[in-house]
Amino acid sequence: MKPNRSIDALIAELHALAQITAQEPPVVTRVVFSEADLRARAHVKGLCAAAGLAVTEDAVGNTFARWQGSDPALAPVGTGSHIDAIPNAGSYDGTVGVLGGLEAIRVLQSMGYQPRRSIELVIFTAEEPTRFGIGCLGSRMMGSVLSPAQALTLRDKEGRGLEELRTAAGFSGSLESVALNSGRFHSFIELHIEQGPLLEQEGIDLGLVTHIAAPASLRILVEGEGGHAGARLMPGRKDALAAAAELILALEAAAKSTGAVDTVGTVGVCEVFPGAVNSIPSRVRLETDIRDIDGARRDQVLDTLRAACSETAKQRGVQITTELVNADPPAACDEQILSVMEKAAADAGKTTRRMVSRAYHDSLFMARVAPVAMLFIPCRGGVSHRPDEYSSPEWIANGVNVLARTLAALSA
Ligand code: GLV
Ligand code: MN
Ligand code: MN
Repeated sequence: MKPNRSIDALIAELHALAQITAQEPPVVTRVVFSEADLRARAHVKGLCAAAGLAVTEDAVGNTFARWQGSDPALAPVGTGSHIDAIPNAGSYDGTVGVLGGLEAIRVLQSMGYQPRRSIELVIFTAEEPTRFGIGCLGSRMMGSVLSPAQALTLRDKEGRGLEELRTAAGFSGSLESVALNSGRFHSFIELHIEQGPLLEQEGIDLGLVTHIAAPASLRILVEGEGGHAGARLMPGRKDALAAAAELILALEAAAKSTGAVDTVGTVGVCEVFPGAVNSIPSRVRLETDIRDIDGARRDQVLDTLRAACSETAKQRGVQITTELVNADPPAACDEQILSVMEKAAADAGKTTRRMVSRAYHDSLFMARVAPVAMLFIPCRGGVSHRPDEYSSPEWIANGVNVLARTLAALSA
């Protein structure tokens, strides 16, 4: 098999998609169900239809673009990723897996290949947690990790719920129908930028992901006592932000204390009320992100953080409540798919290394219902979630090439 399509069309499509953003390009912001997200969805669905794929959507907007196999009764081979983007993001996170997956299908079509199993491109709803505070909404529901009842409790910062937002975005139908049976997909492969520096540093073409790290998120509400920043003297203050600062440092210390490079802890959201320079903060909301490839070790950090919350509440006389947003188990990729990918890369003359994914991905939840594997390509400087995120046409072409070969092998 010798894919011989030029990569230029795909690179142009990635650039075109990056123009659909709520901010000035090259800054990409596409929050789920926003106007930019809906325009990007329409754009990508158009490309899928132009490639002859049959496009369907589920009740939360997960999108399936199917290339019918010669035996349509067989479970399809899936590939795909997401097109939503966090605020101030770049052009390659998720989109390489979606448009690269589509390109892999077009490569096979252009070679006259006829799959026996259908090949289905999946565009997942809300991989990013920006709107609802929880990542991988669509795949989480597909993998039955988030029930419809739990999903209906999700709210964005403006207090709008999933039901209102999905309806406004044009998605309806029973949320129960989003969950997939374990036989729905034969296998699932996600192509993605590494979002870390290893492949580029080591000059390796492709990463074969063996494990996906387990993310957890604890939301913390600190309630103290506000007041005049000048008139209220320091003794007896119940400054919610000063208390929150202790928790931020406690999380950093807890993540470092495991001694494992794989443990990471971050406070990415700190909302201060009332947020006025001459007013003592009375309320602070923190959102934390804790990850490890070892779920038990990750949970130890969570426990330490919860203990710090109790201790700080006691010491400072503030009220601290916590809400566990998610604590997901890590996923292991399927050894058989990894061997197929390894052979595909060798046949294509590309170098590989096995590695773990420290970022989470929709594959983490697809692993609940299908054998999965992920294929990483390098990104410059390991930079991601930033407008200067970049992966070269050559790196992208390598990913598409090996993905196409893998899809062919699995669908034959
Ligand atoms: C996904 O975007 C992640 O934060 O790992
Ligand atoms: Mn991302
Ligand atoms: Mn991503």
